[in-house]
Amino acid sequence: MTETPDTRFADPELIKTGDGSFSIFLPQLNETYHSRHGALHESKYVYIDHGLADYWQQLLAKGETKKEVNVLEIGFGTGLNAWLAARWAMANDVNVVYTTLEPYPLPVEMVAKLQSGFEDPAIFNQLHHVNWDEWHEISPLFSLRKVAQRLEDWAANDKLEAQYDVIFYDAFGPSKQPEVWSAANVLTCANLLALGGVLTTYCAQGQFRRDLRAAELTLVKLPGPPHKNEITQGWKI
Ligand SMILES: C[S@@+](CC[C@H](N)C(=O)[O-])C[C@H]1O[C@@H](n2cnc3c(N)ncnc32)[C@H](O)[C@@H]1O
Repeated sequence: MTETPDTRFADPELIKTGDGSFSIFLPQLNETYHSRHGALHESKYVYIDHGLADYWQQLLAKGETKKEVNVLEIGFGTGLNAWLAARWAMANDVNVVYTTLEPYPLPVEMVAKLQSGFEDPAIFNQLHHVNWDEWHEISPLFSLRKVAQRLEDWAANDKLEAQYDVIFYDAFGPSKQPEVWSAANVLTCANLLALGGVLTTYCAQGQFRRDLRAAELTLVKLPGPPHKNEITQGWKI
């Protein structure tokens, strides 16, 4: 029996956001992949500055170092976070090993439209066109594995360990896709974080924050990017 396609993710539309970068709007879900005020700025601020960079800084502050940083992303989407992480790896000379989950990949025509907005389309195209469920060395300091599954299914089927240093929790908003923000998913992510690791997200919802605390992560509230009050980190300490 074939599965009925999920129409919520149908008919994606390309949009230009406030900082000139591109994103996607899903009409059925009435939701965008990034802030309309600036996709590039939001992703860099939430996931790079307050994800990878904060994690690396606290490691250095403790006088520790690591051979590689393991990242898990919930929602590959346009690949913007992955592309920024690949650039951060190069700029900081840190090896990043990146697993990303995406059950509803964008159509190839949409990827072709998006690529013109990227300063480095070669890396962007590689991220999108490599095979799923295999590891790929995208550059000497950036390895990628794309998993075509929902977080809840992957967590139920895979043998998972507390191996991720940084988790980018970048699902659609809790009002649009509440199932992804379930307490069970939050607990899964908390269990997947290595000691000293951080989960970072644009989401500042009260219930989500209570679930992070219940999963024994230490909550940090940070000022948001333009037009957003706060974002959230959860540290495993
Ligand atoms: C806000 S967008 C992600 C944006 C993306 N990180 C980027 O840089 O473009 C949310 C993504 O989560 C994916 N998604 C939806 N349900 C999911 C689930 N149950 N588990 C993991 N990802 C999911 C969507 O298909 C979508 O690509």
